[in-house]
Amino acid sequence: WAAPAIAILLGYLLGSIPFGVLLTRFAGAGDLRTIGSGNIGATNVLRTGRKGLAAATLLLDLGKGAAAVLLAEALFPGTAPLAGMGAFLGHCYPVWLKFHGGKGVATLMGIVVALHWPAGLVYAAVWLGLLAALRISSLAGMTAAISAPVSAAFWGRIDLVLLLLGLALIVLWKHRENVDRLLNGTEPRIGSKRD
Ligand code: G3P
Repeated sequence: WAAPAIAILLGYLLGSIPFGVLLTRFAGAGDLRTIGSGNIGATNVLRTGRKGLAAATLLLDLGKGAAAVLLAEALFPGTAPLAGMGAFLGHCYPVWLKFHGGKGVATLMGIVVALHWPAGLVYAAVWLGLLAALRISSLAGMTAAISAPVSAAFWGRIDLVLLLLGLALIVLWKHRENVDRLLNGTEPRIGSKRD
């Protein structure tokens, strides 16, 4: 039991590093949780007007998910999915922020890329494609998250379907305020004045 437990813990600790909050604070751009949507992800970092910080947040949040999966698999073969789950839960529910974490879109992308790169490629294409077309980060992110279990099923990775479905449902749950705004037409678009 030790290897799976260590993989989950390792994943959780990596995933729980709140890069958005840390980078924004160190750059002197304030407390991210009091800005925009209050979320700790790259989309909200963008609302500080610091594009470089937002890009760095995206890459680091993505990278920690991928790193958790790859590191756990190297140390304890077969534990990659558990480490991915740990990293996702760490990002969404970090102990350091009293369990008020992010919405999981970037970290899940890193996890999916590392678990099964073709599904990761689809995830990135869905996310970037919808983001470019609609400029609504939440909608693009939620759709990309749902693509992960669908891709896993398509490629016959039945072992990953249930896990990725569970994580995608958490992504939807974390976006419940965004869903309300989408339904009443008040969800801001990336780059719009209101955002
Ligand atoms: O990944 C988070 C994104 O989907 C939505 O972020 O700040 O617009 O709620 P935000």
